[in-house]
Amino acid sequence: MALHKENILIVDDDVHILELLQRHLRSLEYHTYKAISVKQALYILKDTAIDLLITDIQMPEVDGLQLLKYTAEHYPHIPKLVITGYPSIDGALNVIKSGAIDYLTKPFTKEELKQAVSKSFESRQNRKPESNSNVAPKNPLYADMIGQSKAFGKVTDIIERVKDNRATVLIEGESGTGKELVARAIHYSGKYARAPFVAVNCGAIPEGLLEAELFGYTKGAFTGAHENRNGFFQAANHGTLFLDEIGSASLAVQTKLLRALQEKNITKVGSQKVEKLDLRIIAATNNNLLESISDKKFREDLYYRLTVVQINVPPLRERKSDIPLLVDRFTKKYGVEYKDRIVKVTPEAIEVLQRYDWPGNIRELENVIQRAVIMSDGKIDVKDLPESLKFKIEFPENSFAPLKEMEKEYIQRVLSATNNNKTKAAEILQIDRKTLREKLK
Ligand SMILES: Nc1ncnc2c1ncn2[C@@H]1O[C@H](COP(=O)(O)OP(=O)(O)OP(=O)(O)O)[C@@H](O)[C@H]1O
Ligand SMILES: [Mg+2]
Repeated sequence: MALHKENILIVDDDVHILELLQRHLRSLEYHTYKAISVKQALYILKDTAIDLLITDIQMPEVDGLQLLKYTAEHYPHIPKLVITGYPSIDGALNVIKSGAIDYLTKPFTKEELKQAVSKSFESRQNRKPESNSNVAPKNPLYADMIGQSKAFGKVTDIIERVKDNRATVLIEGESGTGKELVARAIHYSGKYARAPFVAVNCGAIPEGLLEAELFGYTKGAFTGAHENRNGFFQAANHGTLFLDEIGSASLAVQTKLLRALQEKNITKVGSQKVEKLDLRIIAATNNNLLESISDKKFREDLYYRLTVVQINVPPLRERKSDIPLLVDRFTKKYGVEYKDRIVKVTPEAIEVLQRYDWPGNIRELENVIQRAVIMSDGKIDVKDLPESLKFKIEFPENSFAPLKEMEKEYIQRVLSATNNNKTKAAEILQIDRKTLREKLK
């Protein structure tokens, strides 16, 4: 085996990925240096002769795009390899196009990593001395966002109109319709694409912490605040702050958000100092904020501040003409991933897919295709699709029985299968025995 002994710097905010990369690269006889943030990476770059940089794109505080840009300017001889979940959504495509940069999509195998690494080293050898196309390509994202239907056309129209300014945008739509993708499209296709895009899921952060996470805090502001910290607002400065699930922000946080939007400045928790910020806010919600307003759970004045521009992402059932295109995208994506080739879909299967109403929208469609690709042998047919999709089309509406009747019949079937053993039956049905007894009555 050839001894490489080249120095590879790996940057990722996920320790597990760092460790996995290190293990793989070590077994391939490379030296590795790990950094969990861009800041740490910069220190290593300064002190060490690095031969290859491998970096993630989405990282808190400073993202991988900025690291790539910095490295290109200060260490132009170092080849770069990007590891990303979504190459074009991440904005990685901009960079990949502007420099000779390879990328690897997550999840990857050791073999894929090995090939990508040796390709990057090769590119170092035959790289042209100068490429200074630093300008982001126009709308790289639209290649990734599928939608030719009229309903979706309205969405792309608005994206075009807002991408180059700082107007606040509220994106509404059911779960899985692509709200986050729209937010990223606005950011990465516009003129602020090179500034950070920071996404915060307001519903995922405990209520008491959200304010500190958003605005930052000063040392001693509360128990556990051991140092001054910036929040998501500061991290997104000059770029876009994406407030996902804005409807779950508490009224206290809403009040602070309103102020931030009105005054264009913020104060850290525990501080009096006003920080001026220049960024764009995009918020998203999958529940009806007007209802929350009438329930007094959402501030009306904040709602009007957020809806300078409003985008309604239509549910998939209202844009069924996009289904074949989406299916095509997902079969390519997963075909290459799981089967090493493009998987075809029969017209009958497409018809089943187009008749279904997709309550989980594009996310559900993507999952169904992913599973079907794995199950199929090269061609997706009706038999490879989940029963729940077909059920919907094979029975006319009036052939359904009331739920209670179905339940009764089902319980009886389970009981006869268990020889009337109620304990066992309750276990199978995952209800307690008392509930079963009541139902039997
Ligand atoms: N127009 C599109 N073309 C291709 N893929 C899409 C499109 N819209 C959404 N997707 C894919 O569907 C999935 C769901 O999209 P996304 O996460 O943006 O939805 P969401 O509306 O934010 O959902 P939730 O409300 O559950 O957070 C993602 O994998 C995304 O890449
Ligand atoms: Mg989302």
